[in-house]
Amino acid sequence: MLSRHIFSTIPIVLNFIPAVLSQTYYTQNAHFKGKNFLDAFNWETFDDPTHGRVNFIDQQTALNTNLSYADDDVFIMRADYHQIVPSYARGRDSVRITSHDAWGDSLLVLDLAHMPEGCATWPAYWTVSKNGPWPQGGEMDIIEGVNLNNNNLASLHTMTNCTMPQTRSQTGQVVSTNCDAAVNYNQGCGVAFATPASYGSGFNTNGGGWVATWRSPNSISHWFWPRNAPNVPDEIRQGDSDVVTPGENWGTPDATFVWPQCDYNSHFDPHQIIFDLTLCGDWAGNAFPTAGCGPGNCQDFVDNNPDAFGNAFWEINSLTVYTPSSF
Ligand SMILES: *[C@@H]1O[C@H](CO)[C@@H](O)[C@H](O)[C@H]1NC(C)=O
Ligand SMILES: *[C@@H]1O[C@H](CO)[C@@H](O)[C@H](O)[C@H]1NC(C)=O
Repeated sequence: MLSRHIFSTIPIVLNFIPAVLSQTYYTQNAHFKGKNFLDAFNWETFDDPTHGRVNFIDQQTALNTNLSYADDDVFIMRADYHQIVPSYARGRDSVRITSHDAWGDSLLVLDLAHMPEGCATWPAYWTVSKNGPWPQGGEMDIIEGVNLNNNNLASLHTMTNCTMPQTRSQTGQVVSTNCDAAVNYNQGCGVAFATPASYGSGFNTNGGGWVATWRSPNSISHWFWPRNAPNVPDEIRQGDSDVVTPGENWGTPDATFVWPQCDYNSHFDPHQIIFDLTLCGDWAGNAFPTAGCGPGNCQDFVDNNPDAFGNAFWEINSLTVYTPSSF
């Protein structure tokens, strides 16, 4: 609050403010909205590495079939919800996009109107090292869950020797503390957000909201505000071009990851941003029988119930990347 006051009222003092302030001044490096996504992201078409019952399609096919849609205001990507999938097919048509660019220390602000929900779905908004090979350089999952989950799970997946303290300053619940991808079948270190409005149908019922992710040598922290929350910070709601001191006056984060037992610099390097929607696979498929989605198995459900995927879509208002700037 103090620093903002100084900036707005006596800018001339800036020249004399010591360098320490520059570390907390973030400025817009990239802003993705509507059609920007078409140029800034790659539509991946490989087999889903998590073994989902999906067929990731290229951008032209996605636009032709309206499984991806962009205008000036919004970007939408979804799974097909019309066709029966033949058993010999690779899976139900869906979309996975990866940013061309990569960022290290940064503030990501996602304004999201709708996320995929429903049985068999496994959507994720996440980042991963551009250099790799995975898990070198790290993976940071920001929005993730499966089936009828109603609390978001944020996690990290890393090389060896990276764990999280059980107790941290966050409102979410610690699910697991070892980030090493080679441990616990790549469970990673995860934190479940406290509010059901943070994922799936609860998220969508509220018209979505904002997720801010601040990645720095001090911590990785995530804040979530539902659309109708009374306490959405002005700079987040308005999409300001600069953010001074991320986290200041934002309240306790929903999830936070800190480094006393993990060397940040050797475990994390610049990351690309990914949005995807897979179906079944290693997590959603294995959890399907106990998710209240049966009877039957996940693959049969996906193949034979196109109507179940009408709400399996991402609707993104904007994604903004801020990077630390020095004067
Ligand atoms: C494509 O999807 C958009 C967004 O859901 C929708 O507004 C539009 O009507 C769809 N177009 C067609 C041809 O179905
Ligand atoms: C494990 O990480 C800690 C820092 O978190 C470091 O002090 C220690 O040397 C590392 N151990 C190995 C075997 O790399």
